[in-house]
Amino acid sequence: MNVLHSLVTLLLPLALMGVAHAQSLKVADRQASKTFSAQQLLADPTVRDVAIARDPVFGKPMTYRAIPVPELLKGLSLGKEDYVEFTATDKFSIGVPVRLLLPESSEGPKPFLAVETPEAKWPPIPDQGKETPAPFFLIWQDAKPGEISSEYWVYKLASLTVTDSPFKRWPALNVAEDLPPTHPARRGLDRYVALCISCHRFNGAGEGEMGPDLAKPMNPVDYFQPQAFRKFLRSSKSVRDWPDRKMPSFVEDVLSNEDMEALIAWLTYKARE
Ligand code: HEC
Repeated sequence: MNVLHSLVTLLLPLALMGVAHAQSLKVADRQASKTFSAQQLLADPTVRDVAIARDPVFGKPMTYRAIPVPELLKGLSLGKEDYVEFTATDKFSIGVPVRLLLPESSEGPKPFLAVETPEAKWPPIPDQGKETPAPFFLIWQDAKPGEISSEYWVYKLASLTVTDSPFKRWPALNVAEDLPPTHPARRGLDRYVALCISCHRFNGAGEGEMGPDLAKPMNPVDYFQPQAFRKFLRSSKSVRDWPDRKMPSFVEDVLSNEDMEALIAWLTYKARE
């Protein structure tokens, strides 16, 4: 083995480790993108301690060093109808409406980007081994139960990108325009893009890659017994369980009975379309 080769074998893994641990966040609109390190973000004058009364990821009160999301989005070109796609290092990806990210009133939920500090490392996420939300975590202060989708608490964040709404990006998800406004499939679609699209595609539509496509080859309403499907959504391990199971359990605070029926109405509508 020559010296150069041993140097390469010695240094390459170190270099790769460096990449894996690089704590940077990419923020992009349709024209340009910027990258921030954790250090840069923590140096922002608007960074503060943010107390969360009940953190849904940890199930208890938490305090984070965090920067207000509106501060982070400053200077980006975005419209009120746009969404911002939050993508995590584990391929989880969800679009959050700009109207929630840039709240017009001081009442209601306020979004922050939490940044892990070297002095106060975050604990592991319950049920996820040693994984913590680091390096960046989208959190919501003053959110009442059900007000903010559980999937909008995005951890292990890698990037934020301004995009169109999911209804515009994937028109195949929509229901027919002449469907009555009170038809539950409308509410069901709204819940689907808030709660499920992060991990599942639907007939190819979406960016989620953690779970299977929910329309191809078969829609779950066509193979689940109706009651077993409801039980599965409330607690996926009640149907099948294994150590690497990732499908969340949607408790009533997150998905009310009415919303669950609406979601199933939309899946059924799509299966019969
Ligand atoms: C955090 C990611 C995530 C979210 C959010 C999520 N799922 Fe899943 N889901 C999975 C994964 C991963 C699987 C595969 C089984 C597993 O690993 O638990 C799965 C499995 C499923 C299955 C079973 C497919 C089968 O037959 O095996 C259905 C049905 C399903 N999800 C529906 C939903 C619905 C409806 C929502 C929204 C209310 C949702 N999922 C939200 C990750 C997710």
